Amino acid sequence: MGLKIVVLAAGQGTRMKSALPKVLHPLGGKPLLQHVIETAKTLTPEQIIIIHSQEADLLKSTLSDPALSWICQPTQRGTGDAVAHALPQIAPQDTVLILYGDVPLITTQSLKALLTALEQESLGLLTLKTPQPAGLGRIVRDATGNIVRIVEEKDASLEEKAIQEVNTGICAVKAKYLEAWLGALKSDNAQNEYYLTDIIAMAVSEGKVVQSVVPAFPEEVSGVNDRAQLAELNQFYQRQQADFWMKAGVGIVDPARWQLRGDLQAEADVSIDVNVILEGQVKLHKNAKIGPNCYLKDCEIGEGTEILANSYIDGAKVGANAVIGPFARLRPGTILADQVRIGNFVEIKKATVATGTKINHLSYIGDATIGQSVNIGAGTITCNYDGIYKHQTIIEDGVLIGSDTQLIAPVRIGKDAIVAAGSTITKDVQEKALTLTNRLDQRSQPQKQRRPSTDPTDKRN
Ligand code: UD1
Ligand code: CA
Repeated sequence: MGLKIVVLAAGQGTRMKSALPKVLHPLGGKPLLQHVIETAKTLTPEQIIIIHSQEADLLKSTLSDPALSWICQPTQRGTGDAVAHALPQIAPQDTVLILYGDVPLITTQSLKALLTALEQESLGLLTLKTPQPAGLGRIVRDATGNIVRIVEEKDASLEEKAIQEVNTGICAVKAKYLEAWLGALKSDNAQNEYYLTDIIAMAVSEGKVVQSVVPAFPEEVSGVNDRAQLAELNQFYQRQQADFWMKAGVGIVDPARWQLRGDLQAEADVSIDVNVILEGQVKLHKNAKIGPNCYLKDCEIGEGTEILANSYIDGAKVGANAVIGPFARLRPGTILADQVRIGNFVEIKKATVATGTKINHLSYIGDATIGQSVNIGAGTITCNYDGIYKHQTIIEDGVLIGSDTQLIAPVRIGKDAIVAAGSTITKDVQEKALTLTNRLDQRSQPQKQRRPSTDPTDKRN
């Protein structure tokens, strides 16, 4: 018996009012459809079949996964018609699980329960009891409690509309019956669609028992039809991720004010202040402290390191016990060793900085290799770009660069050298030398018209 998972994703998603296909809208940094695919894969199916509408190039290129089979449903004639398009890929001995590209938070646990329930029977449904059943298909049961059919809201009588058990749409079917049932579907209903849900009544009329399973929590079967529902589901998702990490020992000051948009790895006693966004692959080691309003993307932050308020980190690796920010910007290719100090309004790109070095104020360091215990004064700029090529700046251990210095790359500053404030360095600097450039003489002379003294006892005022 092979498991074939069919994911319906041919709907237009018009209520999103978006040029982007609905199932590509991100939730927690990942397209809705990708959440579904990742969960589907945990069941190790033989095949995952995506049913899509005509324009699917963007879908295919965004997900670009050779494990997926793509089938076009050229016109959306209903969920039954959508599943029927997958039949050529399905053999009689298979089990078919039907998922939805816009129901992203479905869990492995519920799907496994559904597949287990199916083992003895021919059809299993994931159903939900809800006080707000409006818009959804209602589960009709007989006096003994057996499922007899599903009625869509638009076809339901007043009595049926009062039923609070709804169809989530997610179901599992033994393939040997599916082909015949789908072939017998009719579209004589309020929406003129081929309803997948009509196979329930067919199964029952053949004397089959329809099993139902309930999801662990209602949000896992919530679909996204518009941006408000997406935002609501994101809120739930973020809270769920926060709960997971808090249980693992991460301090999150306000779980309603953080956003995880990727894969986090975090050790105990990491702390995360409000309005922090974590994106892509983020690794936070023990005792790392992320201050308020920080954006961290694809980065690793070492043990005990503090990222102070309003810092922006993208593609960087920071060692242990460093202090970054406030208002620092680390760009891709930045590698900072332990105990480095990067202060406010400092931008670093494609540079390695060794242990204990300080770049504390208003500097740009790009395409550089900086040794240990270097002190870079305020307003230092590596002039790395000549308009055509990028060039390297090398600063060896123990160097002190005075404030407002321009280092015109390619250039090397030797070990323990001092470059005086305000220098424009165009040539390599020897080890241990003191170098200064471009200094105009400083002269003083009496003021032609004296400004009043600030000293009240000054008789000349
Ligand atoms: C469907 C169920 C309903 C259930 C609800 C849960 C049917 C007839 N009804 O209703 O019982 O309560 O889901 O959300 O199945 N799709 C296609 N091709 C089509 C039609 C739909 O791929 O031709 C996809 C859509 O992209 C969507 C999903 O199937 O993701 C559900 O389709 P939709 O038309 O929204 O069904 P509902 O009316 O919501
Ligand atoms: Ca829907």
